[in-house]
Amino acid sequence: MRKAFLVVNALLTLSLIAQLYLAALGFFSPPEDELFRFHGMNGRFVLPVLLIVWIVLGFVARIGRSNIVLTFVCLVLLALQTVYFIVAGALGATPPPNESTPGATPYILALHGLGGTILLLLTVVVFSRVRRMGPRVRAAEASEPAGARASSAAG
Ligand code: HEM
Repeated sequence: MRKAFLVVNALLTLSLIAQLYLAALGFFSPPEDELFRFHGMNGRFVLPVLLIVWIVLGFVARIGRSNIVLTFVCLVLLALQTVYFIVAGALGATPPPNESTPGATPYILALHGLGGTILLLLTVVVFSRVRRMGPRVRAAEASEPAGARASSAAG
C-alpha cells in the first residue's frame, strides 16, 4: 500500500508541476483562446481527486501521524486556492475581460501563486519522508523469526 501511496503522490506532484505550466500558458496566450481553462480544470477536478485518494491511501498505508497531518495541510492549501478568489471577489475584484483589482486584492490574489508553490513543495517532502519509511511490514510477519521469513520467502 505504501507503493500505491507513493505512486499517487508522484502523480499529484506531477499534476501540480503541470498546474504551474498551465497557469503560464493561460497568462502568455491571448485571452480569447481561453487557455486558462486547462489550469482551472486541472485545479478543480484532477488535483482534488488525486489529493483525496492520496489522503485515503495515507491512512491505509499507515504513513504515520505527522505525514497524515502534512497531507491534510495540503488539502487545506488546495481549498485556499479557491478561497483567495472568493475573498478578493467579495472585496470587489473581478476577472478579465473587465478586470478590476481594487485595494488590497492583488496581495490576496498573489497568495494563490505562493500557496500553490508551498503545496507542490509539501508533496515532495511527504514523498521523500514516506519513501524513507520503506514497505509496511504486517504484524504477523514482523513477529516471525528472520530465518522463518527467509525460508517462507524461498519456498
Ligand atoms: C501549483 C500552483 C497552483 C495551484 C495548485 C493552483 C490551483 C488552482 C485551482 C484549484 C484553481 C481553481 C479555483 C476555482 O475556480 O475554484 C485555480 C484557478 C486559477 N489559477 Fe491557479 N494554481 C496554481 C498556480 C497559479 C499561478 C502561478 C497563477 C498565476 C497567474 C494562477 C492563476 C489562476 C487563475 C487566474 C485561476 C482562475 C482560472 C479560471 O477561472 O479558469 N494559478 N488555480
